[in-house]
Amino acid sequence: MHDQTAQIEWNGPVPVSTTFDDPYFSLQNGLEETQHVFLAGNDLPARFCDGFHVAELGFGTGLNFLATLAAFRSAAVPGKLHFTSFEAFPMLLSDRAAALTHFPDLPLDGLTGADDVVLTIIEGDARDTLPTWDGRADAWFLDGFSPAKNPELWEAPLMAAVADHLKPGGTLATYTAAGHVRRALQDAGLEVVRVPGYGRKRHMTRARKPG
Ligand SMILES: C[S@@+](CC[C@H](N)C(=O)[O-])C[C@H]1O[C@@H](n2cnc3c(N)ncnc32)[C@H](O)[C@@H]1O
Repeated sequence: MHDQTAQIEWNGPVPVSTTFDDPYFSLQNGLEETQHVFLAGNDLPARFCDGFHVAELGFGTGLNFLATLAAFRSAAVPGKLHFTSFEAFPMLLSDRAAALTHFPDLPLDGLTGADDVVLTIIEGDARDTLPTWDGRADAWFLDGFSPAKNPELWEAPLMAAVADHLKPGGTLATYTAAGHVRRALQDAGLEVVRVPGYGRKRHMTRARKPG
């Protein structure tokens, strides 16, 4: 059977996929990148409310998840955060833990079970698992490896499935500004804008579902 465990090597503190030849997060500052791209890109923490549901393509180390939980807690919103992530190649827990030790302020209890969050990781290729998912998110994080190296996670049918699983008025953010990704999101009925990116990336993409 094909081994689906993530194959990685390390570039200093940052895990790099040897399958996709791409780092899991910014070599510059992964946490700041998450805050800029995925949280601010979805107008978070301002929009958090009880039951707010974030969905993500690519769970990876769990950095985005934990940064989101930290922001939810800082916002002191009563109730629960829901976070659903789609992941085809789960990391070994030891690799994930090693990646996260460099962010000592993250609420690691979110990974082991906490009262204020419901974490669901849906294993398998998102192209198979997302179309049959029965949830709809308030905010999507599109965090595959780069479109050039991981094209399957940015295909137009998958972008359409993401839009289908977004609530009216819901938003999406991603670090990439690749034209074909933006066009696929537009074709799926979303309002798409290009805004300043994090670090060396000049642009990133935000989108909103009308309604
Ligand atoms: C840039 S990393 C995600 C980083 C992550 N959000 C974090 O906070 O660490 C991209 C992730 O997408 C996953 N991935 C790649 N192709 C996939 C596919 N077809 N379906 C689901 N996940 C996929 C990879 O295994 C990897 O974990």
